[in-house]
Amino acid sequence: MNAILKPLSFHFRPMLASDVEDVIRIERAAYPYPWTIGNFKDSLDSGYSSWIAEINGIPAGYWIMMLAAGEGHVLNCCVAPDWQGRGFGRQLVEHLIDTARSHRTECLFLEVRPSNTAAVFLYQRLGFETIALRRNYYPADQGAEDALVMRMLF
Ligand SMILES: CC(C)(COP(=O)(O)OP(=O)(O)OC[C@H]1O[C@@H](n2cnc3c(N)ncnc32)[C@H](O)[C@@H]1OP(=O)(O)O)[C@@H](O)C(=O)NCCC(=O)NCCS
Repeated sequence: MNAILKPLSFHFRPMLASDVEDVIRIERAAYPYPWTIGNFKDSLDSGYSSWIAEINGIPAGYWIMMLAAGEGHVLNCCVAPDWQGRGFGRQLVEHLIDTARSHRTECLFLEVRPSNTAAVFLYQRLGFETIALRRNYYPADQGAEDALVMRMLF
């Protein structure tokens, strides 16, 4: 009998306060300048759209987006390093786009480091365009790094 292997895909569910411990572990492994536990708690307390992406019941990614007045702002979007480069980032961003659409969002914004080529490529691939540059937006080893501001219009 032939075994049919189903490709792994993320299972998405809303993020809970009890997820913050898992999330911060991924965050610290994935970013050189990670969010703090307080940043995640504040996002949940503020009611931002916050989702966990699981593989076989284990958190392996997440995203957080602020939705208001027809606009969405992606605040965080991350795949655990062990799972990067296998199509999960695309699943994550497609899920956040679908969620924004289901809230009748007219445009979606995000900031990204120009040096983060994987993220910039992924966002462009899924329809975001660069509309501005914020000077010295991010902390960096050499002082600060600019941010690309990207937008998707629905
Ligand atoms: C950015 C991130 C979400 C991408 O996730 P990922 O699972 O590695 O991405 P995928 O495997 O789905 O790849 C998505 C696309 O980017 C491309 N890509 C992946 N890594 C790349 C790289 N280093 N350089 C260029 N392109 C790259 C892939 O080829 C793929 O394109 P395709 O769909 O046309 O084949 C992930 O690297 C991450 O979480 N990084 C740390 C947190 C972060 O930087 N988040 C973004 C903050 S703005």
